[in-house]
This record gives sequence, C-alpha cells and structure tokens, in this order.
Amino acid sequence: MRRSLSRREFVATGAAASLAALAPRPVFADSTIMERLVVHTDVEIGKINPELHGHFAEHLGSCVYGGLWVGKNSKVPNINGHRKLAVEYLRELGVPVLRWPGGCFADDYHWRDGIGPPEKRPKRVNIHWGGGVEPNSFGTHEFIELCRLIGAEPYLAGNVGSGSPQEMRDWVEYCNYPAGSDLAEERGANGAREPFKVRYWGVGNESWGCGGNMRPEEYAALYRRFAVYLKEFGGTTPYLIASGPSGGDIRWSRGLLDKVRGDFPDGLSMHYYEGGEDPATRFTAAHMNQQLAIFNKVEESILLQRAVLDGYPEGRKTGLILDEWGVWDQIAPEDEKKNGKLWQQSTMRSALAAGLGLNLFNRLADKLYMCNIAQIVNVLQSVLITEGAESDKCVRTTTYHAFSLFKAHRSKMALRVEGKEVTAPSISASASKNGDELVLSFVNPKMDEDFRVECTLLGGNAKAATAEILHDTDLNACNSFEKPNEVVVQKHSVKVDGSIVQLDLPRMSIATAEVRLA
Ligand code: AHR
Repeated sequence: MRRSLSRREFVATGAAASLAALAPRPVFADSTIMERLVVHTDVEIGKINPELHGHFAEHLGSCVYGGLWVGKNSKVPNINGHRKLAVEYLRELGVPVLRWPGGCFADDYHWRDGIGPPEKRPKRVNIHWGGGVEPNSFGTHEFIELCRLIGAEPYLAGNVGSGSPQEMRDWVEYCNYPAGSDLAEERGANGAREPFKVRYWGVGNESWGCGGNMRPEEYAALYRRFAVYLKEFGGTTPYLIASGPSGGDIRWSRGLLDKVRGDFPDGLSMHYYEGGEDPATRFTAAHMNQQLAIFNKVEESILLQRAVLDGYPEGRKTGLILDEWGVWDQIAPEDEKKNGKLWQQSTMRSALAAGLGLNLFNRLADKLYMCNIAQIVNVLQSVLITEGAESDKCVRTTTYHAFSLFKAHRSKMALRVEGKEVTAPSISASASKNGDELVLSFVNPKMDEDFRVECTLLGGNAKAATAEILHDTDLNACNSFEKPNEVVVQKHSVKVDGSIVQLDLPRMSIATAEVRLA
C-alpha cells in the first residue's frame, strides 16, 4: 500500500488540486510517499485519560533544586520559591498529574524531614543520586503548592524500602484528614488548614531494585501490610499504586499478584525506558532508529502486563500505569558536571520518541490508566531545561512541544486507525473524538522519507480543519539556552474534502490536525 506516487498518478487521483492548498512546507516532489490511513470515527477504543500525559519529579540532579525550585530569596523570578517561568510554561502545557519525590529517592525519603519551618528542616544525604546534601526546603507543602500552581493532580510515592506502614499512614492522614487530629492540626499550623486531598499514592518504587531489592513475594507481603493502614480520610480514598515490573517482566507481576490475593492494588506501576547508545545531541541515524524501535517492545510489554492483570478476576479493575518512561540516552559527563545528575538535552529525535509514545498510549487507551514521563525538568527526557539555580533561563524542550501537540486528545475517545504501518519506527498515527471534534496525530520518524498522509474518515465527514507541526531535518536539533526557539510548533496546512483529510508529513515530524466534523 505504501509506495511512491508518480506525478501522473498524483494528477489522476485528483489530489493535485489540493497541493497548492497544502504546502507551506515543502518541496515534495516525486519522492513523496502516499500513506493511506482509515480512521473509524465510530469505533471507540476507550477514553484517553488526561493522566496518560503525566509527569514525574524526583530529587535527582537539578530537577527540584535549581529546576522547579529556586527558593523564596532567589533573584530568579519566583512564586513563593517556585521558578515563575517554569510554572507558567507547565501551566500552559497542562500537567494532569505529577509524581513526587521519586523514583529511587522515594524509598529513602522521610516526609517529616520536609515539613515545618524550612530553617529547622534536617539536611540529609541523597544516597541514590550522588551523595549530595538535601536541604529539604522543598517538601510536602511546597509540592502541593506547585501542583496547584500548575493545575496538576498530586501523586505521592511512599517509602516502603526504608520506611514503615506507620510513617506512610501518617503521611496520608497529614495530607488528607480535614481537622481535629494532631496530624491535621500540625498541617494547619504549617500553613494549610484545608486538607490536600491527595488521591494517588505509590506504595514503594522499583521494589525489585533500589526500593528494597525484594523478591515479588516479599514485596507482596509488605504491600498487603501497608495497604491495611492506608485509608480514606475526610472523603479522599487513596488510589494505591503497587510497585510493578520493569518492562515486560511478568515474573515480578505474576509473583506479586499471586500473593496479594484479596488486596489487589488500584494501580500497578511498570517502568520502561527507551535506552540510547549516544549522548543526546550526538545521535547517529542508526542509533535513533534502534532507539525508536523500542516502542514496539513497549507496546508488547503493555499488552503483556495488561493480559497478566486481566488473568485475575480482581486484576481487571487494576489500572496499568507506565510510571516511568522516556528516552534515557548516554549522559554526557560535561552536561552532568555542569547541570547535575542525569541532565539530558531533548532533540528532534527525543520529540519523535515522545510522539511515538503518546500515539501508542492513545491507541492503547483501554489498556492504560496513567503514564508519567521521566522527568519533568532537567532530568532525562524533560519538558523544560534550566541553567542552574542562579539563572532565570528556562527553555521549553522539543519534548515540551511534542506533548503540546497531543494536548487536544485529552479526555476524548480514542478511535481505531488502520494503515499498513501505524507503529514505530515507521509512520505512526492515532485519533480521538468528542462530539464533532476529531483529533488526528501523526509521527514520521524516517530520516529520509517524506509522506503525504491521506486519511479516510469512515462514518464521518470533515467540515474544516487546522493543523500544527513540529519538524526539523536534523535529528540532533534542539532548543538550547542560547537558541531557545530552534524547534517549535508551527502552523501547518491541512486539506479536507468530504471524508478525506490530507496533510504533508515531512521526514522527522510530528503533526496534529484538529478536524471539525460535519
Ligand atoms: O528516573 C530515574 C530513576 O530511574 C528512578 O529514580 C528510578 O525509579 C528508575 O530506575
């Protein structure tokens, strides 16, 4: 089905008439490849939870200190210590959910260290991420304030590895009990009379590794024990997320689920990073293809883990959560030295990876409950980079722009899309609908192939459409502190004609069309 269209064939199909209307970008000559897709406007997969576009912030490198948090006395413009520009950018992007404080850090974090007058908070060593001293000036109240500033639902990751059921249970009460108990009063005395109403609670993180090096049955026993004490307070019932597998490791998920028996978690967290062979800005084309192809494995793993859950009658209600994902490239020592642990630039390649991931999540909307990319600022595949605690420079990465192209899908019903290849690392597509609003997203991860995408809408006609595109022919193109707007979203042409929607998809691009249905 996918092949080059000769000029003669192109004219004969009548598509030539639309060429002038398409067009701001380019240059497509006879080498353009036609990709025909069918969008079933009445075959719904499931609702795209906004949480599929979630984020993760860990006390790691400069994600929190110097990234999100500069402190109230900083000369960097801030809102109560939160970097103002970061808050504005994140609010604009929309962060449906934010997970904190780890990651590995979570299982060595004691929440009491981060409450009360900042000058009295203890200084602790961050054993997982470089052995630096944590001032604890960013704690529970600061996190909740950040979530409110950016409009995110808070997700707290509790400490199972080095903590106790009592410590975590008290954290839930401190956050959620309205008034009258000592813990609720303490929260009030610390400035928050109203409960935080935190719904999402992680019960440990990577308990098979940095979260305690446990066997699945050991963790299952601990999970059950913790769950007994993590209760509803003041009408907020905690949604408990168990520490799940790395990728497709079903030994862990089966071992765990066999043993949790009557206490099935509300959510099961799995992690899947897309590792890379090169430093972020020095990727070769071959290594890019290798990395993007990992999304096929991510898809397999999600299907596998969902099937494992569905194999248990109680497991069918458990939400599958891709709690950490994103490209994890070779970290450049000079970047780490300057900007902190796991600091990573985001390039056009990273944006394509984000687009492939987000398209995949749309297509698996019935299988997934939440997905959190790692991490929100400065660490791994971040949406923002900052230049250190003293600088007000804060740049939206290519990944930020990729996420912005998918915003319109949130809360819509994912639709079935068919084509020869709609999976990585070739052209990928997804669609969603709400009433007469149809959203179509496409990713062309090819280095050397330009496509014209023609979507036939089955069961619907298009009235009008607008489109936007993120595109660069250099896979290593990025937004830097010197050139913050090198790769940004631009308006793009889209043609509609009855049931046909057509747009150009140049090499290495992500495009979204918002279509009004007749
Ligand atoms: O995101 C970095 C680390 O990766 C997290 O702390 C951990 O959960 C995972 O291994």
